[in-house]
Amino acid sequence: MTNRLGGLNGLSFLLYRSNAAPGLNDDDMRAILDSARGRNRRLDLTGCLHHEAGLFFQWLEGPAPALREVMALLMRDRRHDQVQILSAGGLEHRLFRNWTMRYSDRDQVSLMDWFARSGSSTVNPGDYAGGVASFLRMLPG
Ligand SMILES: Cc1cc2nc3c(=O)[nH]c(=O)nc-3n(C[C@H](O)[C@H](O)[C@H](O)COP(=O)(O)O)c2cc1C
Repeated sequence: MTNRLGGLNGLSFLLYRSNAAPGLNDDDMRAILDSARGRNRRLDLTGCLHHEAGLFFQWLEGPAPALREVMALLMRDRRHDQVQILSAGGLEHRLFRNWTMRYSDRDQVSLMDWFARSGSSTVNPGDYAGGVASFLRMLPG
């Protein structure tokens, strides 16, 4: 991961998918977002988190060392597991510059429906990562 992060201008992104712990409720989500937004603000990270069908999809962007710091915390967080990096690398400019962490779930917009409608492949890992990234970018906000 270290080598894949670190764009030339120091701005990097990371997109992962994970399995939410069973039984997470609204209070748990509020707690996750509170601590995420506080630390992201301090570390100059921005991004978005989508929650649907027991899965989390998160896009994080900012300085590579800050991304590594937060990913180390995320990997140990028991509120989700099976964290799978879908895509990571350098970034020319931020996609979520106004969001310390935007949040969406199935009630607002459905990734699964979007995949079904768009006809995008979910089989090829590269296509899947690209599809998730496109979905997150087109969300209103
Ligand atoms: C799905 C998910 C997304 C998270 N996103 C972030 C994040 O963007 N930034 C962050 O600092 N912590 C995030 N967290 C929380 C970290 O894993 C960790 O619990 C937290 O940073 C610990 O900080 P605290 O002691 O201030 O609560 C996330 C946790 C989960 C389960």
